[in-house]
Amino acid sequence: MTVPTRGTTAVPSGGTTAVASGGQAAVPTSGRTVTGVPVEVRDLGISFGAAEIVSGIDLEVRPGEFVCLLGPSGCGKSTLLSAMAGFIEPRAGEITCNGDEVNGSNPHAGMVFQSSEALFEWMTVTQNVAYGPRMHGANKADQARIAAEYLAMVGLPHAGKKFPAQLSGGMRQRVQIARVLANQPSLVLMDEPFGALDAQTRQVLQVELDRIWRHTGCTVVFVTHDIDEALTLADRVVVMSAGPKARIKSIYEVHAQRPRDRAHPDVIDMYEKLRDDIRAEVVASLRNQGIEEDQL
Ligand SMILES: Nc1ncnc2c1ncn2[C@@H]1O[C@H](COP(=O)(O)OP(=O)(O)OP(=O)(O)O)[C@@H](O)[C@H]1O
Ligand SMILES: [Mg+2]
Repeated sequence: MTVPTRGTTAVPSGGTTAVASGGQAAVPTSGRTVTGVPVEVRDLGISFGAAEIVSGIDLEVRPGEFVCLLGPSGCGKSTLLSAMAGFIEPRAGEITCNGDEVNGSNPHAGMVFQSSEALFEWMTVTQNVAYGPRMHGANKADQARIAAEYLAMVGLPHAGKKFPAQLSGGMRQRVQIARVLANQPSLVLMDEPFGALDAQTRQVLQVELDRIWRHTGCTVVFVTHDIDEALTLADRVVVMSAGPKARIKSIYEVHAQRPRDRAHPDVIDMYEKLRDDIRAEVVASLRNQGIEEDQL
């Protein structure tokens, strides 16, 4: 089925500096109540010892926006996400979330990791999802109600009494997502959350995440290596350059109507541009590691 679109637009950022247009601009998803907070990254630099991982990063994430972050392995995507969560202190520049400087753990943010090893194996699924509300003082009835609500949201209404070890990889990731959402974060940071899943499960979860994002109205920053995934989910796709001193290379606005039709000519066109853009950075990254393209 062909879904009518309003087209897709590539917005190269001018090489080294990100140009994220319109800080408070409305997110182009009609009929959706936005609850998400904005994130501003200004002239950010992060180092580990003498190694400068990212440098001069500027990015504005709009309230309720879904931003996907792509770039070569090792360029600093997870590092940037961790800095937004407040897990890593920048060497230079700053990050603000809803206007407050991120300094220590970001109270607006919830993080979903690639691996669902973060689940508490000794707790039931319900207890895992209710963990955050319990820590915030919710009584037992509210914990059960909240867990049931979010398990239903991720398509696991009957799994509450199971233990994580009894679940498939896809189910475990759904539980992880429900556990993060149960804290009602206004910023959800996702680091390759579907990276370890098979292609079919991945596609199902992408569609579900799109639905959940529209329903909750939160802001999402989502790291992936999968261009298709980014074009399914993102309002904007941000491409990082090869490290060291990785920067934001380009930003693509994706206006195609949701749910996205991957076969639409505009989406195919953007896929090809993104593929070439990222491939150039992957080659640069390998070259920086002493590996030439003809050796690949
Ligand atoms: N805690 C740390 N201490 C020292 N170096 C680190 C640390 N965390 C990450 N790095 C280095 O920082 C660089 C960026 O790592 P990061 O994990 O952010 O990359 P990435 O873009 O997420 O890669 P991938 O796509 O493979 O997940 C890498 O060179 C990595 O070795
Ligand atoms: Mg990573």
